[in-house]
Amino acid sequence: MRTILVFLVVLCILAATATAFADDAATIYTSDFSKGTDGWYGRGAQVARTADATLMTTGRSSDWNSPGRNFDLVEGGKYELSVEVRQDTVDSAAFMISIAHSAFGAETYENLAHGTAKKGEWTTLKGSYTAGAFDQSVLYVETTGLPSLDFEIRNFTVTAPGGVPEPKPTEPPMVIEAVENLPSLKEIYAGKFDFGSAAPFFAFSQPKLRELMTSQFNILTPENELKPDAVLDVEGSKKRLQETGDETTAEVHFDSAKPLLDFAKENGMKVHGHVLVWHSQTPEAFFHEGYDLSKPLVSRETMLGRLENYIKNIMAYLNENYPGTVVSWDVLNEAIDDGSNWLRKSNWLTVVGEDYPNRAFEIARKYAPEGTLLCYNDYNTAIAGKLRGIVKLLNTLIPDGNIDGYGFQMHHAATFPSIQQIRTAVETVAALGLRLRVSELDVTVGNNSEASFTMQAKYYADVMKILIDHADQFEAVEVWGLTDPMSWRASQFPLLFDGSCNPKPAFFAVADPDSVQ
Ligand code: XIL
Repeated sequence: MRTILVFLVVLCILAATATAFADDAATIYTSDFSKGTDGWYGRGAQVARTADATLMTTGRSSDWNSPGRNFDLVEGGKYELSVEVRQDTVDSAAFMISIAHSAFGAETYENLAHGTAKKGEWTTLKGSYTAGAFDQSVLYVETTGLPSLDFEIRNFTVTAPGGVPEPKPTEPPMVIEAVENLPSLKEIYAGKFDFGSAAPFFAFSQPKLRELMTSQFNILTPENELKPDAVLDVEGSKKRLQETGDETTAEVHFDSAKPLLDFAKENGMKVHGHVLVWHSQTPEAFFHEGYDLSKPLVSRETMLGRLENYIKNIMAYLNENYPGTVVSWDVLNEAIDDGSNWLRKSNWLTVVGEDYPNRAFEIARKYAPEGTLLCYNDYNTAIAGKLRGIVKLLNTLIPDGNIDGYGFQMHHAATFPSIQQIRTAVETVAALGLRLRVSELDVTVGNNSEASFTMQAKYYADVMKILIDHADQFEAVEVWGLTDPMSWRASQFPLLFDGSCNPKPAFFAVADPDSVQ
């Protein structure tokens, strides 16, 4: 009997070890393109398997056009991701593994892995992802600044080295507070500054979010839809250039910005334009002769000509179709490098030179309707070195008389930077005499516990107190997104409303900062 017992115990231990081991090594998925596309599909592009059992993506015109595949990822599961990519067109190309996840009908995105692939070389991208509470998750491989690049992928692998948690039972839907019964931020701050939010195009097809926006905000920023990769019509510009021979051509389109612009116009809301000149989310082809990546970079004169046509065409379209709606613009975004605290390396710096910020503001001033607030926008203003760089740049722009304002992004964490650092930054920039904005406020926390949300609320309240003290200089305060699952930092719950549009403690703290001790 005893022997049998010992045997059974040993067997149990062995079985448990084996399971743990199997979990440890858990490979959830490895792509197999030997027969077909293995569930991968083209997101605004064509995908096809090649004779070498890889997946080729062609016909792209935006960075997000990509091979993608739906994955069942369990909330709380920690996943390791890797993929090999290869391209044969440019010397080097930046790639990302990203995820498009959706909850409550809203699709949001995170970038999970980064890598640069040299021409003709298989390059591995590695990253990790902790799954949030989403109904659907699509992993995809996209480019940065190379919207029409063809590329191949192979060996896309998903593992969960620590095992995957049991799926949570589905919770009953949360009770949705009537947003009309809440205090209204735009009304509370009406005498001081505009209050607004960034919003993505898909928000405007959702009644609950439309109601949230009209009741709370009087200004909106398109989260991605007025960035150069959404506005510059690369194919249209290329075609036009071929017809006319004019290298300074810059055609624009507003397909993705239209829902926000229409909504703002219908509801008498203001719009903040984001962004004209940026190193990121700008098609690489913009900087190349013939809008052709295989050709050299254009000359300074051509680039300034393109920038002038780009800004002229944007202002003309908006003025004609939405007169008076766009009240301010980020003419230039994130030009200061975090290491050198001076102009970051970018195509703008390479092609135009150190005065590109001045030229951008000069052109914006020439074409923007009178009274438009023209701003420089940046992050980490509360970090001493970065603040020095930002002030130095502002001091080169102010004498030209074309800049009106500075936008503090304020992508913060509830633990960093300190409230004192923020106060110093606000006071330092305020002393330059510019109009001020908070353009992208969000405050991350580690989890969605009550304790974290209380800490987050306190931080929001302390930030608001600083802004109220300087209300005479602030034009607007905008949060960067409507609800936590819609945030670009969704996994860190940084916003004022949860996924059901219920207000969080942070909302009440912003509505009444003095109520928070
Ligand atoms: C972010 C958007 O929120 C994301 O959807 C997108 O994938 C990347 O850009 N600073 C900025 C914003 O100026 O444009 C960025 O927005 C966030 C950081």
